[in-house]
Amino acid sequence: MRTVKLHDATLIPQLGQGTWNMGESTARYDSEVEALRWGIDHGMTLIDTAEMYGDGAAEELVGDAIRPYNRNDLFLVSKVYPWNAGRKNIFRSCEDSLERMGTDHLDLYLLHWRGSVPLAETVECMEELKQQGKILRWGVSNFDTADMKELLHVRNGDQCQVNQVLYHLGSRGVEYDLLPFMNEHGIPMMAYCPLAQAGRLKQKLLSSRVLQEIAEAKGRTVMQILLAFTLLRDDVIPIPKASSVAHTSANREAAEIILTQEERDLLDREFPKPDRKVPLDME
Ligand SMILES: NC(=O)c1ccc[n+]([C@@H]2O[C@H](COP(=O)([O-])OP(=O)(O)OC[C@H]3O[C@@H](n4cnc5c(N)ncnc54)[C@H](OP(=O)(O)O)[C@@H]3O)[C@@H](O)[C@H]2O)c1
Repeated sequence: MRTVKLHDATLIPQLGQGTWNMGESTARYDSEVEALRWGIDHGMTLIDTAEMYGDGAAEELVGDAIRPYNRNDLFLVSKVYPWNAGRKNIFRSCEDSLERMGTDHLDLYLLHWRGSVPLAETVECMEELKQQGKILRWGVSNFDTADMKELLHVRNGDQCQVNQVLYHLGSRGVEYDLLPFMNEHGIPMMAYCPLAQAGRLKQKLLSSRVLQEIAEAKGRTVMQILLAFTLLRDDVIPIPKASSVAHTSANREAAEIILTQEERDLLDREFPKPDRKVPLDME
């Protein structure tokens, strides 16, 4: 598994696993646990969750899935709601997430999106959580370029390790200025919805002849090509969500796909990156 260097020089796997909508159905529970474990066994040791997902159900599922593993072999990420990201609630929120996941620390704690709590207060609390050993590092999510600039002006704002945003072949707005800005500051990007939620977020991905032909030529699926696209850069960490071993293993395989320059050019022509600023996509 290739690795990505965080702002603090920690190396993490380039391909992680998402958990949104997981842990909410008893019928799917065992399959979801099995899928996450298969991923961990094959190098996808980074698991992304949030207090929001199923009101804690996804964190509990993660807790079950990771029980057989050595905690030091995992990289656990969770997120705090914006309205809990201030002095009044963040310490309780973090403790609850830790309890649900059955661990004593998070590797990374993210502000899920920007709310009304001042950034300076959130950063101060995140730094306190670090001192308490409850989290090893923190980051943000759904921050556009202007938000990142503001964050870097806050005291200790430069301790931000990642920004998690929506990114897939059909939504390339971040390539215009957010990714270059983050790259300049040594902050990698976690890409959520790297499969555009199996194409649901952008129907053209499913109907594209170019994508189908590239997939066929390589003996892969369109979903695997989508994932391979998000793995092209060495500062992007996609976190696809899969509820079955079949999907997790297909995603793991995608990390081995090499897209030729010609294929990349074809994808660029079919799904061009914007040549002007567009606001951050959230779906
Ligand atoms: N920070 C934020 O605001 C934010 C927002 C959204 C998501 N996220 C995080 O990012 C993760 C990924 O995003 P997402 O779950 O919305 O979308 P996604 O990963 O783009 O797509 C998930 C969908 O793709 C399907 N799938 C997975 N692997 C597949 C494969 N190899 N072939 C065909 N279908 C496949 C899944 O089906 P099955 O489930 O049936 O396998 C599911 O329906 C989330 O789970 C969450 O952890 C963060």
